[in-house]
Amino acid sequence: MTYFIGIDSSTTATKALLMDEHGTVVTVASSAYDYETPQPLWSEQHPDLWWTATIAGVKQVIAQSGVDSAEIAAIGLTGQMHGLVLLDQNGQVLRPALLWNDQRTAAECGEIRALIGKQRLIQITGNDALTGFTAPKIVWVKNHEPEIYAQIRHILLPKDYVRFKLTGDYAMDKAGGAGTQLFDISLRDWSPTIVKALGIDPNWLPPTFEGTGVTGVISAEAAALTGLQPGTPVVAGGGDQAAAAVGTGAVSAGIVSLSLGTSGVVFATTDTPAVEPEGRLHAFCHAVPGKWHFMGVMLSAAGSLRWFRDTLAPGVDFADLVAEAAAIPAGSDGLLFLPYLTGERTPHPDPLARGAFVGLTVRHTRAHMTRAVLEGVAFGLRDSFELMKASGLEGVGQVRITGGGARSPLWRQILADVLGAEIATVNAEEGAAYGAALLAATGAGVWSNVAEACAATIRVTGVTAVDEGQIGRYDALYTVYRDLYPALQPSFAQISTINSLLRQDDKAPKSDIQNPKSSS
Ligand code: XUL
Repeated sequence: MTYFIGIDSSTTATKALLMDEHGTVVTVASSAYDYETPQPLWSEQHPDLWWTATIAGVKQVIAQSGVDSAEIAAIGLTGQMHGLVLLDQNGQVLRPALLWNDQRTAAECGEIRALIGKQRLIQITGNDALTGFTAPKIVWVKNHEPEIYAQIRHILLPKDYVRFKLTGDYAMDKAGGAGTQLFDISLRDWSPTIVKALGIDPNWLPPTFEGTGVTGVISAEAAALTGLQPGTPVVAGGGDQAAAAVGTGAVSAGIVSLSLGTSGVVFATTDTPAVEPEGRLHAFCHAVPGKWHFMGVMLSAAGSLRWFRDTLAPGVDFADLVAEAAAIPAGSDGLLFLPYLTGERTPHPDPLARGAFVGLTVRHTRAHMTRAVLEGVAFGLRDSFELMKASGLEGVGQVRITGGGARSPLWRQILADVLGAEIATVNAEEGAAYGAALLAATGAGVWSNVAEACAATIRVTGVTAVDEGQIGRYDALYTVYRDLYPALQPSFAQISTINSLLRQDDKAPKSDIQNPKSSS
């Protein structure tokens, strides 16, 4: 028997997953860590965390399984996308990594748009400039930390730092490369135009590989630390979203994956490097060789339900709360919810956007509000589907759902009816780490391509069909929902301005009251 390991360096933990050659998960190990917010809007992590957690995770899966490491035929890597790792000429880390959820680069996004032109940027990279992406982070370091910038010799992503420590090679996967915003997604490689316009030395950028390509082998040093055999191949793998799509079998056009966790991610494979003309959807290279994908990201999906429960129904079990909502008619008696509780990314890249209940009357109960939250999240996800359809995605056959929200039959039914597509659950629940292991096994020749790997391993475990009777009702409410953000956006901006003034006022010393003697 041969085995494969998928390693996922996420924002909160590194997971190592050991899978056998039939795709059966043998064992999983996870080591948690935290990230730092040294200033408001900043989000950083030291790369040592990922490497230490990788050593622990790999050792643990080998020990737990009792597998002889000589039988481990390949390793696949995945992890948080967009994080900026800077190394000097000796491969030493220059500063903590700036992560995907770091928001400090609004000015640098403007600078990039001005240098390249928004339309040209979208056409080449597939995306408008976004604070989360890697390119504006590089420009930020140039603008704010020139002494660090001067020492840069290598730019990597989190997963590729782990690769460097495992193999000694500087290399990156194409899905991750596209997420840097330095890629020409049609070329599936670094864009000479973008790299030159931003004044980045092309020598800092590693060679890039398709998801199943072997980028190097385990070094003697890494073998001694992890228990792996020196010479074991390491495949490129993919950014976490692309690898998670592989892990649910969303590898061909027509199968869309929907991850309903704290955030909600809609992911659709495309056969061509299609882009949304305004850059409202992300368009990246897939971890599947020769494929691309669209992606829409909602920041508070199941996170909206958690907020609602914790705030308005503390202590109530999710299942009980949702059971109340099941008794309410579809459409929540005209109550609508906007899920922008932590701002939004798709389709409104607006950190100032806020959540809202619209249409409240005295007849509405907590159960109506719960149902409105479930429906509001579904409407927000439909926004991504509509943009994908308008950008050329043909026919959504099936939506494969994962994440905590996938466990609710009512939410699955609401999603089927709002999206007008059947919702399927699948047997694979390990997400990106499993996808990375499948990419490793495919790279090692167990299957001849990724689609074959998915067909052999991933099974649909349940299907929720569309209730045709509800479509008209939801379509009508969706048109109202769609009009609400543009109508409220000026108010969101005003609230934010007033709120920051009020906060300053609240912090200012109240001289007359707190220090009555100062005026005498
Ligand atoms: C994808 C994205 C997140 C991070 C962290 O665009 O920002 O999924 O990869 O998981």
